[in-house]
Amino acid sequence: MDAIEALLNRRSCRKFTSQPVEKEKIMKILECANFAPSPANKQPWEFIVTTNSKYNMELQKRVETIKEKVAEKSGWKWLPAFRVDFITEAPVLIVVSGDPDRNGAEQFLDEPSKGYEHGCCAAIENILLAAHSLGLATLWLSLFEKRDARDIFGIDEKQDPVAIICLGYPQGPITAPTRKDLATKVRFLD
Ligand SMILES: Cc1cc2nc3c(=O)[nH]c(=O)nc-3n(C[C@H](O)[C@H](O)[C@H](O)COP(=O)(O)O)c2cc1C
Repeated sequence: MDAIEALLNRRSCRKFTSQPVEKEKIMKILECANFAPSPANKQPWEFIVTTNSKYNMELQKRVETIKEKVAEKSGWKWLPAFRVDFITEAPVLIVVSGDPDRNGAEQFLDEPSKGYEHGCCAAIENILLAAHSLGLATLWLSLFEKRDARDIFGIDEKQDPVAIICLGYPQGPITAPTRKDLATKVRFLD
């Protein structure tokens, strides 16, 4: 699949089939993730992969409770009804965990950014695009407490579970959410 086509047609998937994902595909996706750019090539990521549904069930249980809390704090009225069954449906979970000590030059600037997070996000996007090009679908999940992720997936407390990727075969077509007009997002300077 052409890279531009993959970029434009990838969608967040919230309905997976139970079809298992081939090991070779999982490994190819992880290889792509590991080739992501990162500040000073620090490769700040670790990928924790599971096909054991006990992890999905525990994660979904905890996300359900988070939903309530976030709905209350944010006032987002749609959130309590937002289904997160895709967590238990997904045949594969990939936790992308970052090492907060693996940053680049940006950490020494007056306004430092979190280089390790940026590297992890680049790896996550590679996961999403590689999966899509292999006929799979993904959901980038951030609606979880980091302490829960550390507890469920056995992650050291010094590490930062940046995101959990739900991976599997999509059930049915996915409607593309709209995007704001590009003209409102771009400024060309002469
Ligand atoms: C950093 C980040 C966090 C996200 N967290 C969640 C999440 O917790 N739950 C969810 O259902 N979707 C999550 N998404 C997916 C977005 O809702 C989705 O990308 C957006 O609506 C655009 O849809 P598309 O991915 O199909 O283009 C997240 C996406 C990003 C980039």
